[in-house]
Amino acid sequence: MIDPWTFSSTVDYENIMNQFGIKKFKDLLEDIKDPSLLMKRGIIFGHRDFNLIQERINKNKDFICITGMMPSGKMHIGHKMIVDQLKWYFKNGGNIFISIADMEAYATREKSLKDGRQIAINEYLVNYLALGLDLTHKNVNVYLQSQSKQLNELAFKLSKKVNLSQMKAIYGFENTTNIAHIYAPLVQVADILLPQTEDFCSPMPTIVPVGIDQDPHIRLTRDLAIRFKDEFGFISPGSTYHRFITGLTSAKMSSSKPKTAIFLNDSPENAEKKVKTAKTGGRESLKEQKELGGCPEKCVVYELLLYHLISDDKKLEKVYNECKAGILLCGECKQMTSIKIKNLVEGLAIKRNESFEIAENILD
Ligand code: TRP
Ligand code: SF4
Repeated sequence: MIDPWTFSSTVDYENIMNQFGIKKFKDLLEDIKDPSLLMKRGIIFGHRDFNLIQERINKNKDFICITGMMPSGKMHIGHKMIVDQLKWYFKNGGNIFISIADMEAYATREKSLKDGRQIAINEYLVNYLALGLDLTHKNVNVYLQSQSKQLNELAFKLSKKVNLSQMKAIYGFENTTNIAHIYAPLVQVADILLPQTEDFCSPMPTIVPVGIDQDPHIRLTRDLAIRFKDEFGFISPGSTYHRFITGLTSAKMSSSKPKTAIFLNDSPENAEKKVKTAKTGGRESLKEQKELGGCPEKCVVYELLLYHLISDDKKLEKVYNECKAGILLCGECKQMTSIKIKNLVEGLAIKRNESFEIAENILD
């Protein structure tokens, strides 16, 4: 069972894919016209029904891309991945929907709705803008769960066709789980199906880019889409799954453990320092490393380069090969990476400053 609220990082992706019938993304990669970096590099590793989206893109037709964020903590570099994906879908004709899951944060974390709104604006929306997603565009729709009447009406209707034993089977809820927590997934299902209602895009292929921890919600959504097909004409939403970036200490990168994470609003000095203390795939001694080479596969520094910091495939390959051959050593590699991180957070800080006012107005 996957529990979306306490999911930890040591994931056997293969095993989960087999167990839940998630397909391999690489099998359809070559038919994608201009795949994103995360797709090409296997960071997006699985999907359900992505081919429906691919067809729409190839025919220059639009589609829906929906995601949500729980406004509960700070944004770290792992969260950048979702923004990168939204930008790709936007560029390829997607109608983008972003739900700020203040109701979920209220139900499952100790967060008031008021705090949720503030965190959403000052932490998430400004960083989304700083990372280059145009939240003011007419094809981008951002809302707070608690503020959308249509959403709450839909969640309520959907909840009619699911019962407690199904919810327990999917999420493992206990008799002591509070009802808001049990209900929160229905609000999320409504997030995913709302864009297909008449008030928005009407039924249309939909994609939800998520981490594997969110798969229980996807399964519930697909099930309910079928149950409500007669009433709403829903097309079952598809999904993609991305790997989680490893934390700096090699535990999961998590906002609640600052030592594991590089935050988007870390100071340049701090971000640099964090890279320099990150766990690498280097050998015990310099001599050994020169003889045997390093292990980029097990290296957090390499992961940062792979996911976020080197877009040129040839340059990345060079790092990989030279690490393996013992030519590139960790000190030099960290130095190069820390400069890239520094530039990234510096750039973001400048763009965030220009974005606060815009972010404030988006939710009104
Ligand atoms: N549950 C998601 C999280 O914990 C947030 C979320 C809310 C979401 N609604 C969504 C994700 C719709 C994808 C689609 O981060
Ligand atoms: Fe990691 Fe770079 Fe060291 Fe290789 S050289 S193990 S990629 S830090």
